[in-house]
Amino acid sequence: MDKGDLINLVFEKVKEYLEKNNDNTIPVVKYIEPQSLAEEVQAEVGELPLSGKEFLEYADKYFEYAVRTGNKQFFNQLYSGFNLPAFLGELITIATNTSMYTYEVAPVATVIEKEMISLMNSYAGYDSGDGIFLTGGSNANLVAMFSARNRIFPEVRFEGYNRHMKLRVFINEQAHYSIETAANLLGLGSDSVIKVKADDRGRIIPSELENEINNSLKRGEKPFFVVATSGTTLLGAYDPLNEISEICRRYDLWLHADGSFGGSVLISEQHRSLMDGIEKTDSLAWNPHKLMNIPLTCSVLLVRDETTLYRNFTDINTDYIYHDIEEVDDLGKKSIQCGRRVDAVKLWFAWKYYGKEGYRDRIDNSMAMAAYAEQKVKDMPELELMVPRNSFTVCFRYVAKNIDKLNEFNLELREELRKSGKTIVNYGYNGKDLAIRLVTSNGELEKKDIDLFFEYMAEEGRKLNSDSKNTGSL
Ligand SMILES: Cc1ncc(COP(=O)(O)O)c(C=O)c1O
Repeated sequence: MDKGDLINLVFEKVKEYLEKNNDNTIPVVKYIEPQSLAEEVQAEVGELPLSGKEFLEYADKYFEYAVRTGNKQFFNQLYSGFNLPAFLGELITIATNTSMYTYEVAPVATVIEKEMISLMNSYAGYDSGDGIFLTGGSNANLVAMFSARNRIFPEVRFEGYNRHMKLRVFINEQAHYSIETAANLLGLGSDSVIKVKADDRGRIIPSELENEINNSLKRGEKPFFVVATSGTTLLGAYDPLNEISEICRRYDLWLHADGSFGGSVLISEQHRSLMDGIEKTDSLAWNPHKLMNIPLTCSVLLVRDETTLYRNFTDINTDYIYHDIEEVDDLGKKSIQCGRRVDAVKLWFAWKYYGKEGYRDRIDNSMAMAAYAEQKVKDMPELELMVPRNSFTVCFRYVAKNIDKLNEFNLELREELRKSGKTIVNYGYNGKDLAIRLVTSNGELEKKDIDLFFEYMAEEGRKLNSDSKNTGSL
């Protein structure tokens, strides 16, 4: 088989696969036990080359067992959905395979990345801001903390961190674990992250934040970095940026908004008030690969002060790569990576394709679908809403006969649904209670998709609830 035929046949398969994304007779995942899966896909690499026909058979296997994240019954993660222009943008990007470090090897992509950063800054209200695409929200949070540390202790870049400095970070107790990982990576240690109490909707309590800062100062520590989460991972809560920024201003602390999940709400005129005060923050993590449905990964760190990212650079022996040819700045000097994927181009294609208005509508639709789902939970007597909805997530549980074992019951319910391949939804713990978390991040969801999800939920819940084996064991 020649290369052209192989390309055509693989593209044909890709097209067929995508066409079936919304066929509800095809499972979201074809579940088999992990041991059988390794055997089934014959994962080991052999000595001899594959024929074109064999290559196609492996492609079939991959498609057969991969989770269909583009199916509208995929609710498991904060990302989901299939976005046609972004997918095509990704294909085009891969075909021209390049790295974002210099203008000379990535001229168009550099122009486009700059345009995307500038557009996103306009939504954040960072008038003379800057930013960089990186590998995800966790990385964006890391680079934000790194930038804040370099602002107050620039010498640490060369001399290393002295742990007697006792730098301290403050986060919502329900913030993402990547903040602690960042503190670990930067040598501060995860114990330097102080978790601040949240209210019953999951939003940080500003007065508690101020108390924690004062307690830290009394202990002789050095508070330097506060994270406000804009869309918490489980409850979708938005921390109040105006009040927090006032505290940060008083104590001269860097304020980072972790909008990895919820940052895209900024493009919705209807709902952007959830992030009122964003222009007063120092940095913002924003993942278009979540609510904007761009293929993974597509993630940005924005900074309000355009000099920030350049200050992170230690400039040791880079004259073999950064030539700033034709007087265009090489973006690599703002990044902690050297080789860097082109992630801006797929976002650009999608934003241009839908237009600003179209994207606004997608985000508004995601919010409307969450509101619809919340109402369904309220209307179904067998379900209980665990926390009033904040934004794009709805947290609930099935109230089974044996109310002493609700966590076990709901876990089993979720697992039964996942293994059946009908729908996949994730869960987390709100305090000690297991909450099923429905996320409506797919901008193309319709009411019928939400209805179908709850039909599956009710059907499986009824079955488990009446099954003496299960209720006995639960
Ligand atoms: C609030 C929040 N911050 C950060 C992250 C990490 O983002 P990523 O998965 O892109 O590293 C997540 C991921 O779900 C998140 O919900």
